[in-house]
Amino acid sequence: MMKALKTTDPQIYQLVKKEEKRQKYGLEMIPSENYTSEAVMTVMGSVLTNKYSEGYPRKRYYGGNEFIDQVESLAQERAKKLFGVPHANVQPYSGSPANFAVYVGVCEPGDTIMGLNLTDGGHLTHGWKSSITSQFYKSVPYHVKADGRVDMDEVRQLAKKHKPKLIWAGATCYPFKYEYKEYAEIADSVGAYFAADIAHVAGLIVAGVHPSPAKYAHIITSTTHKTLRGPRGGIIMVTQKGLDKDPELGNKIDIALFPGMQGGPHDHQTGAIAVALGEALRPSFKRYGQQVVNNSYALAEALKENGFKLVGNGSENHLSLIDLTPIFGPGGGYFVEYALGVAGITVNKQTIPQEPSSPYFPSGLRIGSPALTTRGMKEAHMKRIAKWARSAVGEIEDYRMPMDKEGRNEYLKEFKIKTAKNKTLIKISKEIENFCSKFPVPGIK
Ligand SMILES: Cc1ncc(COP(=O)(O)O)c(C=O)c1O
Repeated sequence: MMKALKTTDPQIYQLVKKEEKRQKYGLEMIPSENYTSEAVMTVMGSVLTNKYSEGYPRKRYYGGNEFIDQVESLAQERAKKLFGVPHANVQPYSGSPANFAVYVGVCEPGDTIMGLNLTDGGHLTHGWKSSITSQFYKSVPYHVKADGRVDMDEVRQLAKKHKPKLIWAGATCYPFKYEYKEYAEIADSVGAYFAADIAHVAGLIVAGVHPSPAKYAHIITSTTHKTLRGPRGGIIMVTQKGLDKDPELGNKIDIALFPGMQGGPHDHQTGAIAVALGEALRPSFKRYGQQVVNNSYALAEALKENGFKLVGNGSENHLSLIDLTPIFGPGGGYFVEYALGVAGITVNKQTIPQEPSSPYFPSGLRIGSPALTTRGMKEAHMKRIAKWARSAVGEIEDYRMPMDKEGRNEYLKEFKIKTAKNKTLIKISKEIENFCSKFPVPGIK
């Protein structure tokens, strides 16, 4: 396939090759990323991409879907088995449309919804001010406490006061397990739907190393490309509890997604999701999930030993949130993301609870183990990585984020030019390149 690309479009071919190299010789530590399998990528690049199949299996608006029906049904059945739910929709193009479909399925415009505040680790689609979810619905955000954990007392009080139609659990940056049972009690006490967005922890739930919301939530949404290790995509599931609350809930969600929000499903993506779910059903996936958590724990401990402060002082899942304020004051996430990038460690800047700066110049850093675990790295490797990270940060720790816009642009430009040429960072990147060459990446020779 790459041969054909090389001839047809050498420019894109070269860029794909460069990205392959970046993924192979660097440490991919963004907690929402992973390396999917060669089998998954094969289906993504297959003829399934040629087909239109608006509708659902056996109820299509296009002919020629006899095989696509089987592909989609297999994906649905595997999702149901994996998560212990009676209804699964595997057509969302990604996690955000999956979440939007939940709103469309159970809320009327103007209804009140609750989700974790974005700068506390919540996702945009859970009602953040710049997401349409807060323009179409009345968003009442809840927060985390000083220890980094969701303030369940606040969730209870806000729910009692605002009587939301929908309460979200789930986050994009949260290093702990979720209190699904308590969320359910709160949602039930006010008659709200409880939706658990498990995008980040889906693979850990499958592996049995994170609690499952299946008994507690009415609806579960997920991406398929994070710890679940599939292609980019989304799933919406309705639990037995959800069907008991409303026997039509599955239909409502399906109709909300198609024809409500999307057109034809991406059949190549559906096929690849089916393959990934099949892989997740195997015993080896349980070992993978356990190792993700073991590695994240080892990384968290090693980061602390190297002088980093962690929000909540540790990790119970696949990620840690580093609070960089003791080193840099506000806005340090920007510097560290860039410097670690030069050193060959890909991470992403992140807000911390009670963020003193802003989402674009945040004071924290998200770092996780799912992708490195796929490559076969273990606890001892995490210790080595924490040391590299500390050395890299040592090279830039005198920088401080200017708070005025004018001065900031010049300062950051200067920072980037100097940091890109920093000899220690370049030396670390060479060491990391050498280290990474010992760990295979699926699909890259
Ligand atoms: C908790 C959560 N939900 C939903 C999404 C949205 O997924 P996507 O980026 O695929 O739309 C994300 C992505 O980061 C997420 O972290």
